[in-house]
Amino acid sequence: MRIVITGGAGCLGSNLTEHFLTVGHDVLVIDNFATGHRGSLPSAHPRMSLIEGSVADRAAVHAAFRDFLPTPVIHSAASYKNPADWLEDARTNVEGTINVIATAKKVGAKRIINFHTALGYGRPEVVPIPVTAPMRPFTSYGISKQAGENYLALSGLPFVSLRLANVTGPRLAIGPIPTFYKRLKAAQKCLCSRTVRDFVDMEDFLMIVDLAMADSAPTGIFNVSTGTGHTMKEIFDIVVDHLGVAPAKPVDEVDPGPDDVPAVVLDPSYTTASFRWKPRYGFRETMLRMLAWYDMHGVTAIYSHLQRPSGADTSGLAAPR
Ligand SMILES: NC(=O)c1ccc[n+]([C@@H]2O[C@H](COP(=O)([O-])OP(=O)(O)OC[C@H]3O[C@@H](n4cnc5c(N)ncnc54)[C@H](O)[C@@H]3O)[C@@H](O)[C@H]2O)c1
Repeated sequence: MRIVITGGAGCLGSNLTEHFLTVGHDVLVIDNFATGHRGSLPSAHPRMSLIEGSVADRAAVHAAFRDFLPTPVIHSAASYKNPADWLEDARTNVEGTINVIATAKKVGAKRIINFHTALGYGRPEVVPIPVTAPMRPFTSYGISKQAGENYLALSGLPFVSLRLANVTGPRLAIGPIPTFYKRLKAAQKCLCSRTVRDFVDMEDFLMIVDLAMADSAPTGIFNVSTGTGHTMKEIFDIVVDHLGVAPAKPVDEVDPGPDDVPAVVLDPSYTTASFRWKPRYGFRETMLRMLAWYDMHGVTAIYSHLQRPSGADTSGLAAPR
């Protein structure tokens, strides 16, 4: 296959690139390196090309697609790193998504695979959240990503939008796991927000993307999760145990900030029924696999799409994605 991956230098994009190159596909990455890194991609590979640019630049997207002629397009580019920068979120997540859709249509791409955030559900009434739950995003990231998914649904192109739990695997640089790992290793103070999240291992994520890319695969919107929720404190305890550190006093727990949600756990039952996809890794094994990766490679920059809760010193806060 000839696969365009927007945001291909990011965490998910670079894992997908590596995976597709390994199984023999051709990959074109488009990335502006806002949160991704050139070093996450192979320095040179005969079946990979890289365009440094923004999906918000329609001419650049068009030129790239026209020359490469992708069969599936994987839309992984997203803006979230500055929650106050609504314009950049709108440029990338709305305008950029419209550009990707319009260009994919123009060059005859067979389908688009999109990644959406569980924050599209806003503050859910029911947890685990069924894929039919109402979408009520209330952050710039959530609102703009929701608009992108809505335009995709409007496009008439075959599409699969995967609403993702926290995908955990190589180069993860957001959320509680890298935060706790980095700070505990440096003997820095940590804080846990009183929140619950679900996690899914990178291998299980790659499996659902493979299934979703097949021409005959179902289309539509699907939750990707194990369906089980875990607290930040549970993660903190696993990291403490793994590193063999002994914090001087019990970790402080704080209420979620105003733009955070206490519990986000996705119900994957429709995805399981549609694709016969079932995660192979449970929570503890997923955490330990992640920590083993940090032992080998370390933690890079850590991003968040959340504002810090006001008040106390929150420099050590590990907030969920
Ligand atoms: N990783 C997860 O657990 C998770 C959870 C929910 C949703 N998602 C979604 O999955 C996708 C990938 O997330 P990720 O974790 O790999 O994040 P990431 O930040 O590692 O990757 C996003 C990539 O997009 C690039 N990018 C940003 N703006 C761009 C632009 N205008 N043009 C081109 N490239 C641009 C960044 O440089 C980065 O390489 C995103 O759409 C995100 O919303 C991920």
